[in-house]
Amino acid sequence: MRRARALLRPEVTLLLIPPLLLLALQLGVFAPRLPGGGATAGEKEPGAAVALSVMSIEPGRSSRGDRTRVPVEESEEVTRAYEDENENEMHSLQDGPRMLELQPWAQDEPSFSAELSRIVLHITKPQLNCSRVLSPGQVQASHPTAASPQPWLLCAEEWLLPAADTPCIAYSFSMDGGDADFLKTVSGMGCQVHSFDPSSTAASGGRRGNSLAGRHGDGGVTSQHRMWLEWRAARRRGHKASVSRTLADIMAALGHPVVHFLYADLLSAEWRVFQNWIELGTSQRIHHLVAKVHLQWAGFEVGGSDEQVLRYWFSVLQGLRASGLRLVHSSAGEGQSVLKRSVRNARSCYTLSWVNMRH
Ligand SMILES: *[C@@H]1O[C@H](CO)[C@@H](O)[C@H](O)[C@H]1NC(C)=O
Repeated sequence: MRRARALLRPEVTLLLIPPLLLLALQLGVFAPRLPGGGATAGEKEPGAAVALSVMSIEPGRSSRGDRTRVPVEESEEVTRAYEDENENEMHSLQDGPRMLELQPWAQDEPSFSAELSRIVLHITKPQLNCSRVLSPGQVQASHPTAASPQPWLLCAEEWLLPAADTPCIAYSFSMDGGDADFLKTVSGMGCQVHSFDPSSTAASGGRRGNSLAGRHGDGGVTSQHRMWLEWRAARRRGHKASVSRTLADIMAALGHPVVHFLYADLLSAEWRVFQNWIELGTSQRIHHLVAKVHLQWAGFEVGGSDEQVLRYWFSVLQGLRASGLRLVHSSAGEGQSVLKRSVRNARSCYTLSWVNMRH
């Protein structure tokens, strides 16, 4: 099912080009000789033209601003949350407001170390210094201190917090309870909190399956949803047991034009999910984002060479930046393995905190 559809994808089409190119060359070079044997170099122009135009769109040679997507391969792991299929996937990607813009290589030539240095610098260097912050578990803003490194921080500048007369909305996506302090902080601030976990047995209202019908909670109240994030378009057929939706669909179902505070530990699905947010413009509607990024393997439905994957990740981060999000805090996690390679200057995961300057 998935493989059959994959043949229609542009990136897979690109992979098919070399055999076609060989075929074209064989026809161009050898076929004319079979009938009359009189073909000359000059008469092979059509074949040569095909070869040139093919070469210019090879994935490895893409330049600034092209729309090449990183080749997609089967995930190494399959999560039940993503098992459902969607036949309209390509349509939704093409109809979206924008495609992810692939950034140029860090250097002239693809280089693992140059790509890694670039992305590590990007995710470890805050782009904005906040004079007031909210720390994990805290409800009162304070001045940032270097004394005790925090896993995340919310930038609490007055003008970046929800206005007193607007209901504050917070979403949290976590499967391991790592969001406990986040939930404490946003509940304490009086936000309406929505907690998402595909394995949750405590969905609002005791409903099974899709659980977005939860009541519109009051400030400080947490609604549990048995739901997870999807990066592909909404399923138009059968809603039966699906527990994943795009963030845009979840926000629409809950009637939230914006999310003020969003926490996400998506266990390596974050790269494709972020891409979906960028392409649908959802990332512009997130005011504060705390998310864990995983570097130990490419992530769900991300493929290509190690250099291509690093470049893709960097492009996704640049896409978030273009949505208005600025990094305000970075916390290195455990492990020193990136794309299964042992590295000295990077960690296997980072928890990143952003604030959106558009608001
Ligand atoms: C934030 O403050 C630090 C320390 O003063 C400084 O080195 C850094 O350049 C500042 N960053 C930004 C984005 O202003």
